Amino acid sequence: MEVIIAEGERLAELAADAVEDLLRRKPDAAIGLATGSSPLAVYDELARRHQESGLSFERARGFLLDEYVGLPADHPERYRNVIAAEVGDRVGWPETQISGPDGLADDIAEACAAYERSIAEAGGIDLQLLGIGTDGHIGFNEPGSSLASRTRLKSLTLQTRQDNARFFGDDVDAVPVHCLTQGLGTISAAGHLVLLATGRHKAEAVHQLVEGPVSALWPATIMQFHPHATVLVDEAAASRLQLAGYYRHAYAAKPDWQGL
Ligand code: F6R
Repeated sequence: MEVIIAEGERLAELAADAVEDLLRRKPDAAIGLATGSSPLAVYDELARRHQESGLSFERARGFLLDEYVGLPADHPERYRNVIAAEVGDRVGWPETQISGPDGLADDIAEACAAYERSIAEAGGIDLQLLGIGTDGHIGFNEPGSSLASRTRLKSLTLQTRQDNARFFGDDVDAVPVHCLTQGLGTISAAGHLVLLATGRHKAEAVHQLVEGPVSALWPATIMQFHPHATVLVDEAAASRLQLAGYYRHAYAAKPDWQGL
């Protein structure tokens, strides 16, 4: 696992570099898309590169990390709509090439299985963008999630619903209780995991993710098993890392040819 400590704008550039390098190498790559605040600066940077240097998503496939259950199709916080507004529409990504688990399906179990099939049919996800919850979730795999889980229904913790109430007019009751999320096993199957975290409120979760024992109590710790995981954090989110000095040293000494 590589930990890079830098200021927010630089983190977004690094994540965008990883996406751009992938698309230049493999124009029809499959990219896993997180919502929430953490990837917003990355999406801004990708939109800028699309405008200014023609970075193309025309052949790329997009796979949402998760989705709320039961939000009406036109609800602005439905993740499918959020991703269209934050990234898809801004980079000319054909709508039909971005999929997500169907939070309005009558048969939720079949919708989750169908989503897993669509990822497999695309040849798997090449690069998965991730944020981390203050309780250590990735996707919406809350504490206690199976470390081998696949896309399924989960109940959000009160903590996560409170954290996300800011997107629902600060009304925690308006945040759905249920979601569909790629499982920890699904996420682990992606070729490259790129996680972004900023702010002191993420410091404990980041410490556990990088340095804690692997445990369902901190679901993001599953990333310690991944052969290619990049953790991009600002100073505040890095403030509890025990080995911060070593991560800084290793990154400063990194050979250019290695890339992310
Ligand atoms: C979003 C998602 C979540 C968020 C996490 C952090 O698709 O899967 O895991 O990444 O809750 O949210 P922010 O970035 O808003 O702090």
